[in-house]
Amino acid sequence: MSSQTTDPKFKPEDRTLDQALRPKTWDEYIGQDKVKTNLRILIEAAKRRSEPIDHLLLYGPAGLGKTTLAYIIAREMQANIKITSGPAIEKVGDLASVLTNLNAQDILFIDEAHRLNKMVEEILYPAMENRILHIIIGKGPSARTLQLDLPPFTLIAASTRIGLLSSPLRSRFGATFRLDFYNKQDIEKILERSSQLLGISCDSDALEFIAKSSRFTPRVANRLLKRARDYAQVEGRGYIDKAAAQKALGLLEIDHQGLEPTDRKLLEAIIKKFNGGPVGLQALAASTSEEIETIEDIYEPYLMQLGFLQRTPRGRIATRLAYDHLGLALPLENPNLL
Ligand SMILES: Nc1ncnc2c1ncn2[C@@H]1O[C@H](COP(=O)(O)OP(=O)(O)OP(=O)(O)O)[C@@H](O)[C@H]1O
Ligand SMILES: [Mg+2]
Repeated sequence: MSSQTTDPKFKPEDRTLDQALRPKTWDEYIGQDKVKTNLRILIEAAKRRSEPIDHLLLYGPAGLGKTTLAYIIAREMQANIKITSGPAIEKVGDLASVLTNLNAQDILFIDEAHRLNKMVEEILYPAMENRILHIIIGKGPSARTLQLDLPPFTLIAASTRIGLLSSPLRSRFGATFRLDFYNKQDIEKILERSSQLLGISCDSDALEFIAKSSRFTPRVANRLLKRARDYAQVEGRGYIDKAAAQKALGLLEIDHQGLEPTDRKLLEAIIKKFNGGPVGLQALAASTSEEIETIEDIYEPYLMQLGFLQRTPRGRIATRLAYDHLGLALPLENPNLL
């Protein structure tokens, strides 16, 4: 697991940061306009009918605001939200106890839903569809099934890997929303709001500079802002100007496009060890000592977003843009180069 500043995955030190900076209302939730519009309509309609909203699936790369959305939805619905995650629900009994503890109108948030196991999923289907919980009592020939009615509730599931969700599970959500990387202007707005909350001023050049290095991910942007604040307070002028932002990010070895050492190591491996690719994910992971899952979850989405890496059926390819960015000469012969 990476420990870099630009890793968009949640880290323990984000707990206070995430909570302090987490938007609580639609106005504070910047960007993702399409998702916001759809959700507002869905919520308003459910409220008018005095019904809970449909089960929702939120997916997209880490740190883009899925958990934040779930909290805002709960607040808008004036509903209680109970938080759990795929890996936390190990056994059928764990899910049964979560479900039987729900009250009418509650929202159940399951993070990392792609990590739910098959047995647990199968209990979830009738619970989502008909609000029925099937419990098996006893073992062998004397086993009996008990049916319990559940209160009306809403499941909100979040996942960074929708491809790993089983299709029966996916099909049971009333609506599915994909969160995308933010644009630069939105990240600048997020940074501006965060700098106010953190009590540090940040000029517009610095905001732009940090935004460009943020992987267009709010969690990363906020983390970089904090490091720039540290630098400005210790070595700088007490406010964040571009020089302070550049210095702070330079010390973290984050370049102007937001690539960190591991991103560059991956691209360099494809280029130098595999002549630009295509190279299979396993071979790439082995040659860089990174985990397959980390490469897929953390590094690839952003490298693909920048157009530095392409996934093909035969493996990963570093593009011309990647050679340019790293200042490396193009290979003389690689018919696959994009
Ligand atoms: N639209 C937004 N506007 C402002 N800040 C945001 C927005 N989305 C996310 N953030 C900030 O980024 C942090 C991370 O967001 P959040 O925890 O919701 O991401 P996530 O998608 O659930 O990530 P993960 O996949 O790791 O669970 C939040 O605490 C918040 O400070
Ligand atoms: Mg989350």
